Amino acid sequence: MTTLTSPLERLHDWQCDLRAQFPILTANPAVAYLDSAATGQKPRAVLDAVAEFLTTTNANIGRGSYPWANTATERVAQVRQRVRLALGDTAGDTASTVEFVSGTSHGLRAVANDWLADILADGDEIIVPFGDHQANLRPWLDLRDTLALRGVRIGVVPMPVDPTSGDYDHRALPALVTPRTRFVAATHVHHVYGANMNVHRIREAVGPDVPICLDAAQSVGHGPVSVADLDVDFIVFSGHKMLALTGVGAVWARNRRGPHFALRGWEGTPNTAGIVSLGAAFDWLDAAGLDRVREWSTALGVLLTDSLSRMADVEVLGCQRSLTADSDVQRREGIVTFRHRKVRSDDLGFVLADEGIMVRADSHCQAGRDSADRAVRVSPHVYNTPDEIDRLLSVVRRCEGI
Ligand code: ALA
Repeated sequence: MTTLTSPLERLHDWQCDLRAQFPILTANPAVAYLDSAATGQKPRAVLDAVAEFLTTTNANIGRGSYPWANTATERVAQVRQRVRLALGDTAGDTASTVEFVSGTSHGLRAVANDWLADILADGDEIIVPFGDHQANLRPWLDLRDTLALRGVRIGVVPMPVDPTSGDYDHRALPALVTPRTRFVAATHVHHVYGANMNVHRIREAVGPDVPICLDAAQSVGHGPVSVADLDVDFIVFSGHKMLALTGVGAVWARNRRGPHFALRGWEGTPNTAGIVSLGAAFDWLDAAGLDRVREWSTALGVLLTDSLSRMADVEVLGCQRSLTADSDVQRREGIVTFRHRKVRSDDLGFVLADEGIMVRADSHCQAGRDSADRAVRVSPHVYNTPDEIDRLLSVVRRCEGI
């Protein structure tokens, strides 16, 4: 049995109470669901909020003049405000925009096509990450190609990465910023390595005027994220990774550097039940305490990394200096990805699945990776337990010495 680290002891009762609120987990006690970076499970409060909406006031929004339609329209407006509050945007004014989208991929593409496209001119440059999620690379490259067809040629500069810390290289970044730099895209928490990318340092590196867009799919709803602390211009995230439904997410736009952000074109009927679920998930996470949610999943990640990094046949991916508990560089925020030197990752994924342990074992939609780069990703959330991590470790240990 692995020794419990102190947050796991201190938060034990709190966590037991929270875990009991996830019907899919209580109905399947033999399952260890450890794939929350792909999608999160839903607490009863979120399911109830959706059922309540659909069974009491379901109607299309912004169209009808009857009570259900008015109530549904009001619910969506409330969630828009709830998103601002959840992101620490307490100005309470209309300076910022919250647009509902289907998820982070849709949201980042909307920032590219509905906002960035309008501000780029021939010879401009953008800095974007080439080693993060495909969703945070393809929209910018596709925009470059579309603009080129119109005779507008923009430069795409890779965001530098410091190989020793796994962080963006904030010291190399200023040299890449030129008078033509119009935009920077970054990731808040890396979806493969779990690294918090220290994005608060990007503003200092790029100066006061360059808009910064954050893929926050693995940070919003996993811990506190505050636009009061982060001087960024866009925060884009998915509902389903933060315990709400699939098919909903949001783009928060500060609207201080460049034009006002709005989805362009006719978006049609929104995912109203999904939007309701987003509000309920923020309420649930706030009540749980986002500081403690992050502390818990980070502690599970530490428990796992500390054991995996001592196994001779296991390679934990990402920053090697962040593997030990006394590391001087950023810790992983709960997401841990590894390879076994003798067992193929997809085989290990099947072995784990046989034991009821659900992880992701592929190349994780990471830009620049293909099927040859398969690895096992373990991504706990607040509902996971140290016992589940121990179960996973005992399966990996059985592979040692093969
Ligand atoms: N973007 C999701 C993941 O990282 C699907 O697994």
